[in-house]
Amino acid sequence: MSEIVYLNGSLIPRSQARISVLDYGFLYGFGLFETMRAYKGQVFRLDSHLSRLVCAAEVLEFPIKVTDLRDAVMATIQANQLGDARIRIAVSIGEGSMVPDPGTCKQPTVLILAGDYHPYPEQIYQQGFRAVISSIRRNSQSPLSRLKSANYLENILARQEARAAGANEALCLNEKGLLAEASMSNIFLVNDGMLRTPGKENGILPGITREVVLEMAPQLGIATFEQDIRLEELSHTQEAFLTNSLIEIMPLTEIDMKPVGSGRPGPVTQRFMANYRKLVLASTTSEQ
Ligand SMILES: Cc1ncc(COP(=O)(O)O)c(C=O)c1O
Repeated sequence: MSEIVYLNGSLIPRSQARISVLDYGFLYGFGLFETMRAYKGQVFRLDSHLSRLVCAAEVLEFPIKVTDLRDAVMATIQANQLGDARIRIAVSIGEGSMVPDPGTCKQPTVLILAGDYHPYPEQIYQQGFRAVISSIRRNSQSPLSRLKSANYLENILARQEARAAGANEALCLNEKGLLAEASMSNIFLVNDGMLRTPGKENGILPGITREVVLEMAPQLGIATFEQDIRLEELSHTQEAFLTNSLIEIMPLTEIDMKPVGSGRPGPVTQRFMANYRKLVLASTTSEQ
């Protein structure tokens, strides 16, 4: 757990960090966050995470500066003497009046937490995740579906549904019944050596890891399609996997108690997993 946190320009002990009771992040969920993974002290795809955050803050009309954030992230990792770490940036529009009026918020709140990250054991990657279909739907028309916003309650409730069913993840459909994503990850299906993932218009968070997979695919000679995926298609997919910055690429081997393909991580999934790890290694040993 982060002992030293970055709050509004200063590195301070976590026990001394204070946020206003009128912070709109707390009162209304008027905020955003990023979760990132560091390997030997280097954050993988830091710039992509920061630009997603900055763009989202622009959408919500509270500007934040990338350069300040980049330095602050590195300073927080160093202050906590971390190597393999999970880093959370949480920003909100800041303190405002009691009547919900973002115009009264003058200064965004910026908080960075960093703690040790212990990856899932290799055995979990060899077995793959089990998922259930969540009762909670993504709203493809909501601006929130595309933002990593502080309104994360639906995601947490969906994940709790999964846990209650003895599964690792919950898959969310959108209001049209099309596959969107999982509660905390994006989803890919593999069929006949081709990769498919729901398009951004389906109400997904455009994941950084999803982007990396889409970049990697042509190098592996694999065609990718961002498109609508119907629920029924899940039952005859040959392989599936989930992606997020912490778990990287996780095989999805069971959906609603039924095996995906052979019920084991498939060969295409394994190629992506191996390639992703190579990429991480190359970029986190060469970055400064
Ligand atoms: C809802 C949701 N979708 C997708 C992702 C994957 O995003 P990323 O690859 O940027 O970590 C996350 C990450 O936590 C998420 O919460």
